[in-house]
Amino acid sequence: MAIVIKSQREIELMRVAARVVAEALELVGRLVKPGVTTESVDSAVGELILSRDCRIAFKGLYGYPANICISIDEEVVHGIPGPRRLREGEIVSVDVGTRYKGYCGDGARTYPVGNVGEGDRKLMRVCEESLRRAIQTVRAGGPLWEVSAAVQQYVESNGFSVVRKYVGHGIGSEFHEEPQIPNFVEKGKGQGVILEAGMVLAIEPMVNAGSADVGKLSDGWTVVTADGKKSAHFEHSVLVTEDGAEVLTRLD
Ligand code: MF3
Ligand code: CO
Repeated sequence: MAIVIKSQREIELMRVAARVVAEALELVGRLVKPGVTTESVDSAVGELILSRDCRIAFKGLYGYPANICISIDEEVVHGIPGPRRLREGEIVSVDVGTRYKGYCGDGARTYPVGNVGEGDRKLMRVCEESLRRAIQTVRAGGPLWEVSAAVQQYVESNGFSVVRKYVGHGIGSEFHEEPQIPNFVEKGKGQGVILEAGMVLAIEPMVNAGSADVGKLSDGWTVVTADGKKSAHFEHSVLVTEDGAEVLTRLD
């Protein structure tokens, strides 16, 4: 399957979808505090997305049952919101997907609940910085593997590991499009791809404090670290331009 180059019109629609993701993640930042249930965050984000004339991209995607994914501490991604209350010292990863007139936006970030330990703050900081560095490598004519390498190099040099089982992806009229965007370099993993202006990439480092290995809970969705140590997740939808990148999931 070829990588889709978006037209100007498609890019305009993706800017709208992605902006609503950014708004939602800002709202989540205001909501996350000790005592709040994850399902209340899920409903608030659902209402915001609908009020912006967007659809909720995750609900029903592969059968996913909620509006957003909320993954706490050792949960890596795809945690299902419910009656669980956030507690001081946890770190909570929230992933939001939208669709505007058929075009998708995808973004995620990890938030501290109240005061969190220095090790956890470092985990979040390293994950976010690895994404920033990955985005800095993006440009038309540049190889995709440099994006992957930027994440891996920064994360591993800080003593953490990147999840290998789940990867970033192209995004457009389909939520998951080509190419796959691993957070590590491995021969044969689509890493001969050369970026072109008009590609849109969802770059999403998932960073574990301990080993890279993950498992899944019996709910069939929640991905957890195999060693029970914490994990962080940051994601932006990024347009490749002639001279660099435009981060679409950002409020500016
Ligand atoms: N947010 C995930 C991603 O970044 C996709 C969530 S899939 C769902 O690719 F089914 F859980 F919604
Ligand atoms: Co994604």
